[in-house]
Amino acid sequence: MNTKSHIVRDAAGVPDAVTALQNGELVGMPTETVYGLAADASNPEAVARVFAAKRRPSFNPLISHVANLDAAIREGEFDERAKALAANHWPGPLTLVVPVAATARSCELARAGLTTIGLRVPQHPLARELLEAFGGPVSAPSANPSGRLSPTRAEDVASELGDAVSLVLDGGPCKAGIESTIVAILPGEPARLLRPGAVGRDAIEPIVGPLAGAARDKVTAPGQLASHYAPRAGLRLDAMKARPGEVLLGFGPDAPAGAANLSASGDTVEAAAKLYQVLRKVDASGADTIAVMPIPDTGLGEAINDRLRRAAAPRPGKS
Ligand code: TXA
Ligand code: MG
Repeated sequence: MNTKSHIVRDAAGVPDAVTALQNGELVGMPTETVYGLAADASNPEAVARVFAAKRRPSFNPLISHVANLDAAIREGEFDERAKALAANHWPGPLTLVVPVAATARSCELARAGLTTIGLRVPQHPLARELLEAFGGPVSAPSANPSGRLSPTRAEDVASELGDAVSLVLDGGPCKAGIESTIVAILPGEPARLLRPGAVGRDAIEPIVGPLAGAARDKVTAPGQLASHYAPRAGLRLDAMKARPGEVLLGFGPDAPAGAANLSASGDTVEAAAKLYQVLRKVDASGADTIAVMPIPDTGLGEAINDRLRRAAAPRPGKS
């Protein structure tokens, strides 16, 4: 027995789980594939907590889980192929990566800054109950610390991530036990298999034709889409202050008063939550270069620095 068993709740825990999500807290959510580490996808701070709890080395895009196709269409743009896949496989263990919709509530951090979004309507009754009661998109990566096995029982979530989650809904052992299949349906491209998973290729290809692999030239992992993250201005990292023509992006209590600051208290979770938004704001100042104060590599700092380094790297077409 682990000491965290008090946070494991049955279906009667759904209202408390909804309250926890509304408060920006994390919840262990059973799905038919694996247990998810659930957070309000519209709340960047809650999403940042997911990355922190998992100790993910970079901000991989998260799947937004929704209650039904209508809710999914609010988040993403579905062409006929995507609609056909959804009609055949939702609710179920298929994740569709589609262009993000203008009406999406899922925040930029949940999408890791991409212009596409991963969406799934899970089948597990408790997941559906939670999503319906919550009423908004829920980010949920597998509820394991990065690099460890995905949990398929509520106790596993509680013992591995007990300190990070407010409660774990116990939906019994997961039926699929492996993650959802991820298929990208993007305009002008063949359907692509981004991750094999709980739905076999043979259940997808009759609907959308032969699946292409992940694009080699256009890598879908966020880290490789450097130019997407890059603001208009150039970046100078490890700056202590702005030089003429630069705007300062501060971090921590030593930043000059009045400068944009990712986190005045030096909290990397807060900084991660604000990163995209604050970068955009300082970029709008029109400065040629954004001088970024040093951010420690601890906590989410590693992921933040990874993103900043990519944004600072030389860009194609720019010398
Ligand atoms: O079965 C599952 O899918 C589980 C349960 C909890 O739903 N979730 C899960 O999430 O496996 P996670 O975060 O471990 O894996 C999601 C993967 C990311 O690593 C990323 O590769 C891909 O989904 N993904 C999400 N959004 C994407 C996007 N916009 N473009 C490309 N890949 C995306
Ligand atoms: Mg995972």
